[in-house]
Amino acid sequence: MDSFEFNKIAGWVLAACVLLLGINIVTDGVFKPHPLEKQSFAIAGVEEEVVAGPAVEAEKPIAFYLASASPEKGEAVFKKCAACHNADQGGANGIGPNLYGIVGATHARAAGFGYSDALGGMKGKPWTWDELSAWLKSPKAYAPGNKMSFAGLSKPEERAAVLAWLNTKSASPLPLPAAPAEEAPAAEAAPADAAAPAEAAPAETAPTA
Ligand code: HEC
Repeated sequence: MDSFEFNKIAGWVLAACVLLLGINIVTDGVFKPHPLEKQSFAIAGVEEEVVAGPAVEAEKPIAFYLASASPEKGEAVFKKCAACHNADQGGANGIGPNLYGIVGATHARAAGFGYSDALGGMKGKPWTWDELSAWLKSPKAYAPGNKMSFAGLSKPEERAAVLAWLNTKSASPLPLPAAPAEEAPAAEAAPADAAAPAEAAPAETAPTA
């Protein structure tokens, strides 16, 4: 085609674009979709699912995450705690009590630390993996009125890592708990009648010191 022909076509294309843009700008205010504030029609029984979405996945027991927890990663997580806690043997209490040997120890055991009534009232109760995980997930929910000003570690992987590391800061580290039995389908490797002993496994996986 000659250049005149080309210019003519290019001109029309350009004009079309300008026109489209113009229409777009003018109609934007009129036709812009407004996000629905509510589902426009309710489906019985479905609402819950729509609101929760796929992100809310049931958390597994902490033993599951401990099975693959890395103490090295836990040491990095502990930076969030280090402003208030020392985890060395014989280390001083800070804003929070010394944490050396805390895994498997008992609540409120640090000498010379002024615990809140909330935590002090639990004195003597063992700090099992599960108890520590629940405390670190949400100190406020675990012991309402306690004075650890820390929102909590919502990720179970982070809690498992920091607990695995804290466990190394101990004169007698605990063995990591066995991963929960229900994770392994009983029929996979063993005959059906072997399922019974698996079910009889103790529910409390964390040994208490
Ligand atoms: C802002 C300061 C602060 C931060 C950050 C903090 N803590 Fe604490 N922690 C405290 C205080 C204060 C207490 C005592 C709470 C009470 O008496 O109510 C405490 C108590 C504890 C206890 C109970 C100790 C015992 O003797 O029974 C554990 C375990 C613990 N913290 C672990 C952690 C870990 C792990 C982190 C980091 C993920 C963390 N804390 C972050 C201040 C803090």
